[in-house]
Amino acid sequence: MLKPFALLPIIAVLSVSTQAATLPGDAANGKKLHDARCTSCHDDSVYKRQDHKVKNLEGLAQQIRNCEHMTDVTPGKTHANDLVKYLNETYYKFK
Ligand code: HEC
Repeated sequence: MLKPFALLPIIAVLSVSTQAATLPGDAANGKKLHDARCTSCHDDSVYKRQDHKVKNLEGLAQQIRNCEHMTDVTPGKTHANDLVKYLNETYYKFK
C-alpha cells in the first residue's frame, strides 16, 4: 500500500541538502585549507566580530583572494571556492 506521507521527511531532507549545495566547493576541504594556511595572521575572531569588513559573498571571495596573495600561495579557484563555502557556512551566512 502506498503511504504518501511517509515520503515527507525524505523530501524535507532533500530540499535542505539542495540549499546547502548552492555554493560550489567543499566546505570540509575549506576548513582543512583554512586551518593549515589561514591562521598565521588572524584567528577566526575577524570573521565573528560585529563590524567585520566582509559584507557579501563577492566581498568574501575578494578578501580571500587578497589574503591568499599575502600567503605566497598561488590562489586556485577550487581552493577559493572551498574557502568561501566554509567561511560562509560557518561564520558569515550570506545568502
Ligand atoms: C599574511 C597575513 C594573512 C594571512 C596568511 C591571511 N590573512 Fe586574512 N586578513 C589579513 C588581514 C591583515 C586582514 C584584515 C584584518 C583587519 O581588518 O583587522 C584579513 C582579513 C580577512 C578577512 C575579512 C574579515 C572581516 O572583517 O570580515 C577574511 C574573510 C580573511 N582574512 C580570510 C583569510 C583566509 C581564508 C586566509 C587563508 C587563505 C587568510 N585570510 C590568510 C591577513 C592575512
